[in-house]
Amino acid sequence: MIKYAINLRRQGKKLTSRITESVVFLRRFLGAPRQVGSVMPSSPYLTKAMMDKIDWKETRYIAELGAGTGVFTRSIVRKLREDGKVLVFEIDPALKTLIETENPGFTVYGDARNLQEVMRKQEIPFLDCIVSSLPFAVLPPRVTASILDAANRGLKPGGKLIAYQYSKHMKPYFEKRFESVKISFVLRNVPPAFVYECQKSQ
Ligand SMILES: C[S@@+](CC[C@H](N)C(=O)[O-])C[C@H]1O[C@@H](n2cnc3c(N)ncnc32)[C@H](O)[C@@H]1O
Repeated sequence: MIKYAINLRRQGKKLTSRITESVVFLRRFLGAPRQVGSVMPSSPYLTKAMMDKIDWKETRYIAELGAGTGVFTRSIVRKLREDGKVLVFEIDPALKTLIETENPGFTVYGDARNLQEVMRKQEIPFLDCIVSSLPFAVLPPRVTASILDAANRGLKPGGKLIAYQYSKHMKPYFEKRFESVKISFVLRNVPPAFVYECQKSQ
């Protein structure tokens, strides 16, 4: 009975924090729809689909672009090996503060266009993987191109960019820069999403 009550309380807490997170996210979306690009944080199904594409044993250096309220950040921090390092980018100051408050001692960087500069300052020679939630299709084309080029340059040969989008619009842009692009579909997300697994040439 006590176990049941504790479980119920835990689930209640989880639900409350997910609702709070969704409200914060929606507010940020209403303030800057093209920058935030989505009305809700990613679902646990999309999170799992993204995380399952990463070889966690082989991944030491990883970057997350567009962390939002930190749904992917939490999984990355949990799964990353002990000697690993993650560079998290979020341009919205309120969301950035939210993640930093949840993870004391953690630095969240701003604009993902500064990826290579941050890598240099943090003495990270290459990235094994990049996880992106950036709404590339609605960002200004110059910003999208500059982030995709920085991501490609920052990855090691054979490294992967895992990105989700709500359409197949970005396929040719990824194909232009990466050797192979695989697409899968996650229905259980609002809205349903396409997951792009883009691999840099060896
Ligand atoms: C669709 S939301 C995804 C949030 C979260 N990762 C998720 O899956 O729920 C995209 C996020 O990218 C951020 N963003 C947009 N442009 C950015 C940029 N140039 N650099 C860093 N973050 C950016 C937005 O502020 C927003 O929080």
